[in-house]
Amino acid sequence: MPRIDHLGIAVRDLRAAAKLYSLLGLAISGIEEIAHEGVRVAMLPAGESRIELLEPTRPDSPVGHFLDRRGEGLHHVALTVEDLGAAVARLRAAGARLVKDEIQTGAGGHRYVFLHPSTAGGVLIELVEKENEAKA
Ligand code: CO
Repeated sequence: MPRIDHLGIAVRDLRAAAKLYSLLGLAISGIEEIAHEGVRVAMLPAGESRIELLEPTRPDSPVGHFLDRRGEGLHHVALTVEDLGAAVARLRAAGARLVKDEIQTGAGGHRYVFLHPSTAGGVLIELVEKENEAKA
């Protein structure tokens, strides 16, 4: 069954944001820079799921633009799928719009795509492949 893999939250400063979460008992398990997305990511495990704090490494990155337009806040919801290729084919056939056409590789080496918010009621939805996540 699909589950929420993580919630992506855009922040201006990872360390400052992580301080609040530490008061809630959530600690950073790792920090990774995803160069092609222009973002630094801190993972905070929360049970079966996790909070993913996203700090832009350059202002012209997707998260940089998001901060300019909307300020800090919830950026995306990530759901697991078992077979990402099949899920993408199903979504395309239904006319859904993806942010990028190709499957990307991100934090922890997992494979992912983003569904465009115009396709999903204003929510940026990330689909993460489950089996690769287990290896990460
Ligand atoms: Co994410």
